[in-house]
Amino acid sequence: MSHSLVTMSYIVAAILFIFSLSGLSNQETARRGNYYGMLGMAIAIIATALSASVSSYAILIIALLIGGAIGAKAALKVEMTQMPELVAIMHSLVGMAAVLVGYANFMDSSSDLIGVEKNIHEIEIYIGVLIGAVTFSGSVIAFGKLSEKISGKPLLLPGRHWFNLSLLIATLVLGYLFLQQTETGGNALIPLAIMTAIALIFGVHMVMAIGGADMPVVISMLNSYSGWAAAATGFMLSNDLLIVTGALVGSSGAILSYIMCRAMNRNFISVIAGGFGTASGGIAAAIEGDVQPIDADETAQLLLEAKNIMIIPGYGMAVAQAQHTVYEITKLLRDKGKKVGFGIHPVAGRMPGHMNVLLAEAKVPYDIVYEMDEINEDWAHVDVSIVIGANDIVNPSALDDPNSPIAGMPVLECWKGETTIVLKRSMASGYAGVGNPLFVLENTRMLFGDANATMQAVLKALKD
Ligand code: TAP
Repeated sequence: MSHSLVTMSYIVAAILFIFSLSGLSNQETARRGNYYGMLGMAIAIIATALSASVSSYAILIIALLIGGAIGAKAALKVEMTQMPELVAIMHSLVGMAAVLVGYANFMDSSSDLIGVEKNIHEIEIYIGVLIGAVTFSGSVIAFGKLSEKISGKPLLLPGRHWFNLSLLIATLVLGYLFLQQTETGGNALIPLAIMTAIALIFGVHMVMAIGGADMPVVISMLNSYSGWAAAATGFMLSNDLLIVTGALVGSSGAILSYIMCRAMNRNFISVIAGGFGTASGGIAAAIEGDVQPIDADETAQLLLEAKNIMIIPGYGMAVAQAQHTVYEITKLLRDKGKKVGFGIHPVAGRMPGHMNVLLAEAKVPYDIVYEMDEINEDWAHVDVSIVIGANDIVNPSALDDPNSPIAGMPVLECWKGETTIVLKRSMASGYAGVGNPLFVLENTRMLFGDANATMQAVLKALKD
């Protein structure tokens, strides 16, 4: 394929990626956004495969087959609840690719760059390896935390800020040494390798220091880093499309991190420095009081008596895969003339938009799905709210207890409605590991059991 045709294809692919991102920003157009992205990626792969930069088709085809088979198998096998972990591990692969491309470029003796161009290329290599290594190790730890293989509790090393600062200074000094060594023909591999080790340690430390409740910011931040790692790879390989795509992912991830911070009332720097919310040193208030259990028949009765019902889904709904049953109940109640809405907290579940994806899968109409800001004023008009496998996002201690690890995080204030019914299997805490006083409030009823099983029982009772 001629160079100009490849460039043309890259421009078309880049435009499709922009359409894709803009489609993904809205539930109604998200599906279309995905199709644009898929088409753009297909064009990008075909144009790259047919471009003059490919020297061995055999290697390319083998790599495409292996990569495609692993990707297809992972996508087919992964449960909806494992999606966040899959995304994290995919980010780690982008980071690893940047590191490997960086080293390959560094060792490539065929490069004929000289003078300033050579220096710029070396800076690209250094920065590419740096971002790639942080993204790789940070994403692996995020994978561990999301799959609960690693504890969600923040690891707060004494003097951790000084530790981070010294790693940063060492990275800058090593960068200087790397450039100096390449200039003088010395052994530049040593500073590059030491910096890689430091970046890997920094990635591990950064994510280990994040408390469970702050993970959403880290997920979106690693998403952003993976974009910058891809852009750095694009610079090293002189591939314009990779630079553009990486920059799109990097900047949209940065915007998402900002949105997540705002949703959680967190300061970005504090989250990244780790341990935010634990600095007060106080002890979170213990939860005292008795819970009032309720059964499926009584729940159905309460729903039949209510006029205005709000459903609050959380991670447990994803675990139980209860979304279809929940929508069956919603349809039935709406047919009886009740107003039923869904209240979505921005960090509900384990990935941005997690609940929206589940509700879209169950075909819940978008116009009855509300964001937190839209409904937090209206709780006084809600007769019954049903909390389905949510915990941290409906925890009143975020507002009342300054010593709580989630203090300051806005939550869905469902307790201000008439009655709240909480569906969960036990009294276990949520992802942030904090007790929830909502469960012992006078107007709360606990419906214990797997959310899908209990929702099925409520549906049956409603039909009977
Ligand atoms: P969580 O606070 O994690 O609570 C989920 C609740 O669901 C648990 O208390 C659990 O209680 C219950 N549950 C689990 N399986 C269930 C089942 N089969 N049936 C019924 N209940 C079940 O979830 P949330 O309220 O959605 O809050 C999200 C948390 O995750 C926040 O702390 C957030 O910061 C964090 N987080 C979010 C993200 C993103 S980007 N959204 C990423 C990482 C972390 P039982 O065990 O008693 O059933």
